[in-house]
Amino acid sequence: MVSSSQPETGLFISFEGPEGAGKSTQIARLLRHLESESVPYTVTREPGGTPLGTRVRDVLLDPELTIDPLPEFLLYSASRAQLVTNVIRPALGRREVVVCDRYADSSLAYQGFGRGLNAGLLRGITAAATGGLWPDLTVLLDLDSVIGLERAARRGQPDRLEQADLTFHQRLRQGFLKLAEAEAERFLVLDATLDETDLEKTIWEAIQSRLPVLKI
Ligand code: TYD
Repeated sequence: MVSSSQPETGLFISFEGPEGAGKSTQIARLLRHLESESVPYTVTREPGGTPLGTRVRDVLLDPELTIDPLPEFLLYSASRAQLVTNVIRPALGRREVVVCDRYADSSLAYQGFGRGLNAGLLRGITAAATGGLWPDLTVLLDLDSVIGLERAARRGQPDRLEQADLTFHQRLRQGFLKLAEAEAERFLVLDATLDETDLEKTIWEAIQSRLPVLKI
């Protein structure tokens, strides 16, 4: 039965996109809005967000390491499983807004479309790692791969993923767009080259429209 009383969970929002899309900037701007509206939130990221995830992150991003596609995916999944259990589900249980910088769509795009791992395999293990938890809203900041890699390069030495060739980055960008097309209800796709303040406004409007349910 649908009830008009308080929902049992909070609101789960992920930010996705290729390299250099400006997720961090938009997440910081979103948090300012949530703070000014006194909306309780938890912000986290993948890979990372837990002591285990932080160590796994160091391994995954290490430019000195060669990691095959399957173990790469399993490491992302290990970080994700720990994050979902220890951070995301508890915060949703407290009816908070959870803002996650990347989530399972990154695996489908990077390890699936990028590395070529089988989508069925990725989805099966992801279901096990997350208990089937998907975001209520995914903001996809879309960007041309050449521009994105140039932007990322300005931040310093490339990490292991940024070092991968251009065609890998082009495949995963198209992968994100395909995922968004297949689940248009969940995704908000935005052109990451637009003015930062305009992007902030569009994202905040999309989230605001989903917030009232939490405020009842
Ligand atoms: P990070 O420094 O957080 O990059 P960004 O600022 O682009 O989010 O590094 C995370 C890297 O890991 C990034 O290149 C995307 C990649 N990644 C995957 O390949 N698969 C995944 O499942 C996740 C979560 C991230």
